[in-house]
Order: sequence, then structure tokens, then C-alpha cells
Amino acid sequence: MSQTSMAKDSAHPNIAPVERRVDAIQAALEERGLGAAAAIEQQAHLVEEQWVPANGARVVAKAWSDPEFRKRLLANGREAVAELGLTMPKHHRHLVVLENTPKVQNVICCTLCSCTAFTIIGLPPDWYKDLEYRSRIVRQSRTVLKEMGTDLPEDVEVRVWDTTADTRYMVLPVQPPHTAGWPEEKLAQLVTRDGMIGVARL
Ligand SMILES: [Fe+2]
Repeated sequence: MSQTSMAKDSAHPNIAPVERRVDAIQAALEERGLGAAAAIEQQAHLVEEQWVPANGARVVAKAWSDPEFRKRLLANGREAVAELGLTMPKHHRHLVVLENTPKVQNVICCTLCSCTAFTIIGLPPDWYKDLEYRSRIVRQSRTVLKEMGTDLPEDVEVRVWDTTADTRYMVLPVQPPHTAGWPEEKLAQLVTRDGMIGVARL
């Protein structure tokens, strides 16, 4: 495809818009019999149907209900979530589960890009990928949390954890006291993605 036949990106006049570039790559892969469309469909299915925060919610509900599971989860997250049939990519070598308490609020971020334990807590929301969040949550964590609707008392310590390629985190929220004794399925419904990132309390 010649440069002149492509619609131009106004910010980068010599570069085609991203949609056109993706289409061109996909067409090139298809021409070579590499089945890009099928792979994209499969990926979309994984993202929308399988890599969902409901996975992490099940983990949290079980940890609240089963003290022995909770111990195993805190000792080795990756092995513990596998007990529930949940898997992680090979390169996510460690799942570190951060236990909140009434006096400690853990928060996760990826200062370099957008890494999460996505097969467990779902893909990162857009704000998690923004430079604004990635830079400010580290330096002004209490203020950023407040702006996001989580106004923590001064005596709650905030701990921010920076994800790396091989170490992924999830926050284990504090179980709301009024839910003691609830069945796991009902508890799981309380657990949100933001709670497992640590920007919200339940
Ligand atoms: Fe990242």
C-alpha cells in the first residue's frame, strides 16, 4: 500500500491511523496462511469470557471463608489459585497476594506500563495504564486514592507495589464485617476489580 493511498494521522502526517496499520498487518498474516483472524477471535474470547475479575473474586471469597486456603494463598498465590482451576501465563512466575487489614491498604500499579495478574483480576482498566496514575500513585498515593473515592483515615498505612514482568500482585481486601458466614458465591459478588487493585475498599 502506498503512503498516498492511506488516510493520514493528523498528529503524525506520515503514519497511517492505527486501524489501517492493524488491518495491513492482519492482511499480511492471512496472505501467508497464519490465521490471524482466528487467533484474534480466540484472544477476544479469552479476554471477554475467561480473564475476568470474577476469577479473583472467587479467590478472595475462598480466602475469607477458608483460613487454611488463605494461608496457602499468602504463601504461594500461583499454586493456591491453581487449586481453583485458575492458571497464569508462564512468565507470571509469582502471584503475590497482599493482605489488607483495617490499618493497611495495599495498592498495585505498574509504573512502566500496564502489567497485572490479568488472568486472575482481569485486564487493567484504562486509568491504570495512564501515566497520571502510574506516576502519582507512587508519590501521592493518599491523594490519588481520595480522588478515586477512597478517603482513608490518617492511621491507615498505604503500601504501593510496583508490578514487574514476572511478579504479579493482587490485593486481598478486608472482608466487610457484616458478611461473616455468608456462602462463598454470595461473598464473591462483593469483590470488585478495583478492590483487588487496592484503589477501593469493600
Ligand atoms: Fe507493565
